[in-house]
Amino acid sequence: MSEENQTDLILGEVISGAVSAAIQLKLRTDSEEVKIGFPAVIEGKKYDFFSIISDIQFPTSNAVTMLANAEKLRNTIPMNTIDTSRGRTFYSIAELQCVQMIDQAGKSYNFETLPPYFSTGRLANESDVKRVYQTDVPEHSQTVGTLRGVEGFEIPIDLKKLVEVPFGIFGRTHSGKTFLNKIILGNIISTDVAKVLVFDMQSEYGWQARADGSPGLKSFFEDKVTLLGLDPNTNSQLDEELRIGEDEIKPEDLIVAFQDLSASMVDAIYEINSLKPASVTLVQAISNAALADPNPLRATRTTLSALSRRILRLERLSFVVDSGKGTLGQLMTYIKSGQNIVIDFGKYGADFFAYVFVANIISRRLYKSYSEMVDMTEYPHLVVLLEEAHKFLDPKISKNTIFDRLAREMRKFKLVLAMVDQRPSKIDDEILSQLANRFILSLTDPKDIVQALTGPVDPGSWRAIVRAMPPRTVLMFGDAIKAPTAMDVLDYNLMSMTKKWSVGVTTRDVRSSLDKLSDEEKNDMFK
Ligand SMILES: Nc1ncnc2c1ncn2[C@@H]1O[C@H](COP(=O)(O)OP(=O)(O)OP(=O)(O)O)[C@@H](O)[C@H]1O
Ligand SMILES: [Mg+2]
Repeated sequence: MSEENQTDLILGEVISGAVSAAIQLKLRTDSEEVKIGFPAVIEGKKYDFFSIISDIQFPTSNAVTMLANAEKLRNTIPMNTIDTSRGRTFYSIAELQCVQMIDQAGKSYNFETLPPYFSTGRLANESDVKRVYQTDVPEHSQTVGTLRGVEGFEIPIDLKKLVEVPFGIFGRTHSGKTFLNKIILGNIISTDVAKVLVFDMQSEYGWQARADGSPGLKSFFEDKVTLLGLDPNTNSQLDEELRIGEDEIKPEDLIVAFQDLSASMVDAIYEINSLKPASVTLVQAISNAALADPNPLRATRTTLSALSRRILRLERLSFVVDSGKGTLGQLMTYIKSGQNIVIDFGKYGADFFAYVFVANIISRRLYKSYSEMVDMTEYPHLVVLLEEAHKFLDPKISKNTIFDRLAREMRKFKLVLAMVDQRPSKIDDEILSQLANRFILSLTDPKDIVQALTGPVDPGSWRAIVRAMPPRTVLMFGDAIKAPTAMDVLDYNLMSMTKKWSVGVTTRDVRSSLDKLSDEEKNDMFK
């Protein structure tokens, strides 16, 4: 449709396609000129078909098979005189997923028809991508990365839309999920479209990540982020310790945290809970039940003993304190005052039991406070970030957790669940179906790929791209972005993000500069 620009890289011509799947181009270029995830445009008569390259293939051919490993035979054929792009034997095919059709007036449509045979496909140029991404950019837009294949072209994401409904970040180990998440959360904090609460299992989001030393949210937004910790001996500079009172522990917290309780143990917990006097905590009641003689419950003595042995694990958790001494009320006060919250698990981050236990208790408290809110301005719009989400959202246990309800019901109360996970195939389908936006980094397990893609698109058509993407490349689907897009995630470091979010120095910066001075110099400073 548009005039050919001399510098545009022509890919080839349309040879087949389906609206329900992809459009195939016979490549005119060397296959190595193009990469999966690059944006491309097919010029139809009425529309430009803005697309993403999702696969590159060599068709199988008997002739090629015969010629492979047979150099002498190949030498009998004048290979270098054969035009590889037009021949019937030596050519490659690129598969394109159309994500948007644009007419001559610049109006965009969903992919609903096909360009004619032999339409030209080319790599997208700057004016194509500007047309798609830079028209009508919503006010609270921020970027997390640049368009793959178009260097330096930042893709705006509508943050207001993003925080309205649950979203997910999926990718295999070390693919860059946490860094991407820090960029997303920093964007949310800097634009103030919502507040965030992060369950920071690996101590990565506070001041500085324990493992790789990368900056956390507090390094950029010292006054806007409150760092609460469960482990008083952690290296992180906590604003306050967080403690859970024994009276705050409910049956589902134990059921979810232990994950492997038998059906009879689960029944016993509910039975004990319903019969215990209000003055006795559930934990005490379970210990007492194992000792009671005769046993007044339906649960057998073996079940009760097994349960009370498990309960002993709580004794290892120094943050579980006597009834009435918990600090969840203080946490709610921080939230009410508009602070963003990072909950640092310190040494307990290595203990899944502790992580699941605490996250469930806190989220239950949030659910209660938000759902009972009468004055809707009492609490701010809050995004709750859950790493290792499958531990809570596995269909086997999600029905017992508060997260199931958080994902389904809470957006009307301004409480939104967001999840980061490496095993989307282990997350309940119904919860995944609630996600309005998905950030998908590289995944390798076929089940995870299918599950991550099911909903926004046909997994079959996009599978190759998700498997082939290098780390730090993300494919985003959802209503917060103009079209499904592959992006190279921004380089996340103290300098680049300080600039991006226009943030000033923190007290930690001042302290570390002071530490570098000699005593004499320090004395001089205050003269
Ligand atoms: N945007 C980025 N900028 C700079 N470095 C990055 C970026 N993304 C990833 N990295 C590098 O890759 C490493 C792994 O990234 P990250 O911790 O985000 O992966 P992950 O998917 O969360 O891993 P895990 O599964 O172990 O939690 C980082 O320590 C960092 O060195
Ligand atoms: Mg991580």
